[in-house]
Amino acid sequence: MGRTNKDKRDLYYRRAKEEGWRARSAFKLLQLNDQFNLFDNITRVVDLCAAPGSWSQVLSKNLSPDSTIVAVDLQPMTPIDNVTTIQADITHPKTLQRILDCFGGEPADFVCSDGAPDVTGLHDLDEYIQAQLILSALQLTTCLLKPGGSFVAKIFRGRDIDLLYSQLSYLFDKVICAKPRASRGTSLEAFIVCLGYKPREGWTPKLDLGVSSEEFFDGSNIGKQGTMEVYELDEEERKIAPFIACGDINDIDSDATYSLDVSSLTLDPVQKPTAPPYKKALEMKRNGELQRR
Ligand SMILES: C[S@@+](CC[C@H](N)C(=O)[O-])C[C@H]1O[C@@H](n2cnc3c(N)ncnc32)[C@H](O)[C@@H]1O
Repeated sequence: MGRTNKDKRDLYYRRAKEEGWRARSAFKLLQLNDQFNLFDNITRVVDLCAAPGSWSQVLSKNLSPDSTIVAVDLQPMTPIDNVTTIQADITHPKTLQRILDCFGGEPADFVCSDGAPDVTGLHDLDEYIQAQLILSALQLTTCLLKPGGSFVAKIFRGRDIDLLYSQLSYLFDKVICAKPRASRGTSLEAFIVCLGYKPREGWTPKLDLGVSSEEFFDGSNIGKQGTMEVYELDEEERKIAPFIACGDINDIDSDATYSLDVSSLTLDPVQKPTAPPYKKALEMKRNGELQRR
């Protein structure tokens, strides 16, 4: 058997298969936990946008067996020990109740989201959809998380990211932008680590995707987009989150190409996609229903 280019190009991809993780993203959560001890003393956890499930695997292996781990994704997920999977849209209002039911009404200790929409290639649209997904994850989190709890979400460090830092700082004691070593340096991807949830008195979480982020933070006086005030944010409002690189400096460099030993085998994926979006296209191609224009 040969060595695939991807195995050489990306040793995290190869190591994930060797260690039984469903995706290389597992290392990102592991490195974030090494840095921030996110898994200490937690028993109720929500993994949003969880498929194929490597973060849920990490949670299942690191938390005590009496923990409740709920994984939510649009895609179906192959079962994982000690994880309840929900196939649902995190932007749908009914999803909140389905998660709460799994916790018997108790709040969560930790919510994480590695959500990413399908990329269209239209940069502004992609950035907007990603921002909406983060807002949905945050809205759900504010309705689910216990005071003092933590929230971690994937972000892309785009133009308006300091506005998001300000909004999150309104709700959490500490907001840090973290870049695990398993996340490519060439990518704008990073993770926002929010510690110590502190719902403000007089501010009510709303689960309503119809509202803009300004409406969601209504009363907080943060980032009134569309008015002149966005240019006049004072020091207090325009937060700069500390940036922390995490993972051992000697660990694999995710941007490097490595040589593999000639005897290295190509490993099968740990979990093939259950219902990949390209499945229908493949079926149509097989049936001669796809035609070149
Ligand atoms: C990068 S993958 C997550 C990988 C996962 N953390 C892991 O370790 O296996 C992003 C996921 O976001 C999911 N997603 C995107 N939009 C969503 C939505 N509105 N509701 C639920 N899941 C969503 C996608 O279906 C996809 O599975």
